[in-house]
Amino acid sequence: MERTVAKSEDKLVDAQDFLPLLGTDHVEIYVGNAKQSAYYYQAAFGFHVVAYSGLETGNKQQTSYVLQQEKLRLVVTSALTPENPINAHLAKHGDGVKVLALWVDDATKSWEETTKRGAISVQEPTRYKDEFGEVVVSSIQTYGETIHKFVERKNYRGAFMPGFEAKSSSFEVKPIGLQYIDHCVGNVELGRMNEWVKFYEDVMGFGLLLTFDDKDISTEYTALMSKVVSNGNGYVKFPINEPAKGKKKSQIEEYIDFYHSAGVQHIAVATKDIIYTVSELRRRGVEFLEVPATYYEDLIERVGNIKEDVKILQDLNILVDRDDEGYLLQIFTKPVQDRPTMFFEIIQREGAKSFGKGNFKALFESIEREQANRGTL
Ligand code: FE2
Repeated sequence: MERTVAKSEDKLVDAQDFLPLLGTDHVEIYVGNAKQSAYYYQAAFGFHVVAYSGLETGNKQQTSYVLQQEKLRLVVTSALTPENPINAHLAKHGDGVKVLALWVDDATKSWEETTKRGAISVQEPTRYKDEFGEVVVSSIQTYGETIHKFVERKNYRGAFMPGFEAKSSSFEVKPIGLQYIDHCVGNVELGRMNEWVKFYEDVMGFGLLLTFDDKDISTEYTALMSKVVSNGNGYVKFPINEPAKGKKKSQIEEYIDFYHSAGVQHIAVATKDIIYTVSELRRRGVEFLEVPATYYEDLIERVGNIKEDVKILQDLNILVDRDDEGYLLQIFTKPVQDRPTMFFEIIQREGAKSFGKGNFKALFESIEREQANRGTL
């Protein structure tokens, strides 16, 4: 498995192994129209449809498309009936991440270990079978109305899980080099970051990897605080943000105003070739945050030598940061639905294990320009 593994010098404190995680299994997004969202993720992001559940498979409640690119799996789901609770979720939050599913060896033990440490159960361990074997699933609540689903699939060889049928994209899909989830960020309400960090430490056995305070992450107008928690092997990293007091409305507050609760702010996806990935995304109509040309003027002085041509990075608006172990290249999409809520980050790590702290100021000023356009600053 090619994953970023936390090293001891990352100050990973006290990560425990009562909840061994093999990685992220999938991310499920509730959307207004799964068919059209699936088209967006195929045409723009280069995912292949690999499985489907809906009326044709006997599911009269909801429609789901499972989309895959290398190790990255997204599920987009919408409701087929007015009574389906997905509708209430959509009315309140708009399109957004409902499930951060974690791949485990034992979904029963994962549920037992976390619920006995205080997790609120959403689904007790449940076995689903079909002709391809069995999948065991359990789930617990995390911030807002988001849940963690534990997925045990070692005895399964079907397309996704029972209830789904294998399906292919109906047109030629061109992948863009997206590989796996690097990290997944949650926005929580003012004053609740430490509570959720404690949840990941106590209930999930994660360790605290990094802390950013409002001195690291503030502009003239807005501020936020952030802590990054990671599981023991470093395969799963969850930065948690909370708004901090600034002169104007923080981007985290804007998110919470529109999402109407805590929730997933962005999914960072790894690529080996960010120039290719971002060129393709732009060509296919995906919009990104823009930083001013001045960002690139002293770039090499700030980050040292890099393999990439700065002119190309500037044309694509890709950001660069360096830490003790190397550098990283990153860029952030604009929100991918109507509300200013969830977005994607594309990240290429060249040794660096950090999160682009050196880019926070330029990025937040860029977000503030977007907020000003929306009238929400
Ligand atoms: Fe990120």
